[in-house]
Amino acid sequence: MLACLIAWLPLLGYIALVQSQLQPTSFVLVGDSTTANGTTTDSGGWGDGFCGGFTTAELVNSSLAPNTPCINTAKNGATTGSFVADGFWNISLATMKTEVAKGRRTLVTVQFGHNDMKIAPPESMGANLTIMVQQIRAAGAEPVLVTSLTRRNFNADGTIDDALGPWANETILIAQQQNTHLLDLHAASITYVEEIGPDAAHRLNRDPTDNTHLNINGTIVFGRMLADLMNASFPNQLPIIPDPPLSFNITHGIPSF
Ligand SMILES: *[C@@H]1O[C@H](CO)[C@@H](O)[C@H](O)[C@H]1NC(C)=O
Ligand SMILES: *[C@@H]1O[C@H](CO)[C@@H](O)[C@H](O)[C@H]1NC(C)=O
Ligand SMILES: *[C@@H]1O[C@H](CO)[C@@H](O)[C@H](O)[C@H]1NC(C)=O
Ligand SMILES: *[C@@H]1O[C@H](CO)[C@@H](O)[C@H](O)[C@H]1NC(C)=O
Ligand SMILES: *[C@@H]1O[C@H](CO)[C@@H](O)[C@H](O)[C@H]1NC(C)=O
Ligand SMILES: *[C@@H]1O[C@H](CO)[C@@H](O)[C@H](O)[C@H]1NC(C)=O
Ligand SMILES: *[C@@H]1O[C@H](CO)[C@@H](O)[C@H](O)[C@H]1NC(C)=O
Ligand SMILES: *[C@@H]1O[C@H](CO)[C@@H](O)[C@H](O)[C@H]1NC(C)=O
Repeated sequence: MLACLIAWLPLLGYIALVQSQLQPTSFVLVGDSTTANGTTTDSGGWGDGFCGGFTTAELVNSSLAPNTPCINTAKNGATTGSFVADGFWNISLATMKTEVAKGRRTLVTVQFGHNDMKIAPPESMGANLTIMVQQIRAAGAEPVLVTSLTRRNFNADGTIDDALGPWANETILIAQQQNTHLLDLHAASITYVEEIGPDAAHRLNRDPTDNTHLNINGTIVFGRMLADLMNASFPNQLPIIPDPPLSFNITHGIPSF
């Protein structure tokens, strides 16, 4: 028990340091099922791994310091258009305004593409992202555009079949045009799954044939990948807790489960 406690002291010290020095920060997540916490066990995206999962089905540690609000408003099946039309964007806006009103620095991640690609060319998503960025800023929050988590569909030569590429590129273009932070989760996730290979990559799937959604191991890996991309984009500004062993595996192409 004592040894266990001592082992945790450096991390606890780090968390106390982080909390004492940083501006109080909140996170709001916007996107589709590859971000969402999911409607049933193992049906979601990286949100639980980043924010922490609190259902018994997905008890996952947060990547953030304790008491950091991280509100996942992403929705399964959403496009940028349906997210607005179905009223979910209004919920996201109200959520970020509530956090801003508390005097908290409020970062809003926005990641779409998986469903947008089924209905319209990339420019349609891009126009909608531009409006979202402007409305996030008008709400007093900070937009952080995120490129789509890759699907784990492989070509025979071991590379990823990158159908989402044009939508990732559109997101990068809008980030440049609107001068927002950009987390290139698409590129980072392709690099990692190509390195670990199809067998290991498919063990992160919700079920073996679902190359889009994540199981618990998948949400932990890609939630950490997101946290590390976030920290790289805002170095030492955010209440992110390090996980050096998992980050090492991710940056060295080592399967983690
Ligand atoms: C979650 O964090 C606790 C310490 O707070 C640790 O004991 C546990 O091993 C962690 N779980 C995972 C899956 O990393
Ligand atoms: C999961 O997301 C939904 C909204 O999409 C939210 O109502 C619910 O509180 C979230 N659950 C957790 C545990 O974050
Ligand atoms: C973008 O939003 C418009 C409505 O403003 C909608 O007609 C269009 O389908 C949306 N595009 C996508 C890809 O969802
Ligand atoms: C979202 O809120 C705006 C402003 O209050 C309103 O005009 C719009 O109808 C709302 N959208 C939906 C889908 O309820
Ligand atoms: C995305 O942009 C990169 C860099 O400009 C380019 O190399 C790549 O071909 C583009 N991919 C797609 C699918 O358009
Ligand atoms: C964030 O990045 C900085 C600069 O690279 C690094 O020193 C720090 O350890 C990172 N923090 C986390 C939580 O990964
Ligand atoms: C990192 O990878 C090794 C080898 O697969 C594994 O034993 C270890 O549990 C992984 N670490 C984490 C934190 O996932
Ligand atoms: C998920 O990770 C745990 C260990 O953390 C492992 O026992 C389990 O087999 C993994 N699941 C899959 C599908 O690989």
